[in-house]
Amino acid sequence: MKKLDPQDWSPFWKNQSITSFGELFPDNYDGPILDFWRIQLEGQPAHVVDLACGNGALTWICNDILNADDAESRITGVDFADISPFRVLGRKPEDFPAIRFIGNTPIERLPFPDYSIDMFVSQYGLEYANPEEAIPEIGRTLAATGRLGLILHDRESSIIRGATEHLDDFRRVAEEIRLHDLAFEMDRLYQKHKNPARRATIPEFNTLMAQIRHASGRVDDMARHHPGNSPLHLYVRRLNSAFDQTKKRSRTERNKLITRARDAFIAHIRRVEDLSAAALSASGRERLVALLETEGMKITGMFTLEYKAEKNIGTALSAARCAP
Ligand SMILES: C[S@@+](CC[C@H](N)C(=O)[O-])C[C@H]1O[C@@H](n2cnc3c(N)ncnc32)[C@H](O)[C@@H]1O
Repeated sequence: MKKLDPQDWSPFWKNQSITSFGELFPDNYDGPILDFWRIQLEGQPAHVVDLACGNGALTWICNDILNADDAESRITGVDFADISPFRVLGRKPEDFPAIRFIGNTPIERLPFPDYSIDMFVSQYGLEYANPEEAIPEIGRTLAATGRLGLILHDRESSIIRGATEHLDDFRRVAEEIRLHDLAFEMDRLYQKHKNPARRATIPEFNTLMAQIRHASGRVDDMARHHPGNSPLHLYVRRLNSAFDQTKKRSRTERNKLITRARDAFIAHIRRVEDLSAAALSASGRERLVALLETEGMKITGMFTLEYKAEKNIGTALSAARCAP
């Protein structure tokens, strides 16, 4: 499985969602997550860097916590995607003088001098990078008294279980049933035979209709077990809409809708695959801890984070550089 690269993430952050889990955290991370960050940020670190910041969910939180009165701490969000959180979220840089975002910047190659950063933070971010390169880079740039706060995806968490629950169904629809290919074929026949009455008498059209009915039946059987806002329902709704007779769509519009239905559905599958590959198993966590210790850091806390009714939404970890 191919890992998502910056070109895959960049379009994702052009939408106005502040986190990548818009349904779970529509306004930003809150509750015990916010409490965790309040504790981590005690002591007013002078320069905080949010690793893999996306649209800056955690960067904004750090600013709210640290600079509620006068701006005293600098906060820099970095991400390897081409991000522009100020523009996308409609916020003015002059209203947030302490915040800076740097896109196109992998954690593995940070644009900071040695020992210059007082605190690194990352929420659902660091685990996407290559730890063998990212942790030494954090080690290079973290100050001698620097600290680290992380919330990491856990393979056992309810976020991962929820996201992957219907993944096999999604893959079957996208790779085997391929309703979108049948829709493209239907689009071709609509173009070739414009008269609906005449179309209905053409054997090629009737064969395709039978294939679509069969494929749709299989998809409906799966979708019945998914929540109404599932990506599979959205995919089917978009395909149906392409052939909505009340809309009198042009060929270009139809084609666009089918392409969008297919691409958005496949992009969702790839994001979930990337998410579950990034999420840490117990041995992945051990490896991360060993790498941090190699860089002279001491783990000062590590626990499973609860959120509302969920018993596990990830692992919270804090570390501090030990005096040499
Ligand atoms: C699940 S999103 C989390 C974003 C943000 N921290 C949040 O909580 O909303 C993961 C982010 O990691 C970024 N990312 C993945 N690999 C990276 C790397 N090697 N270096 C920097 N950013 C990376 C992606 O571009 C994406 O924005």
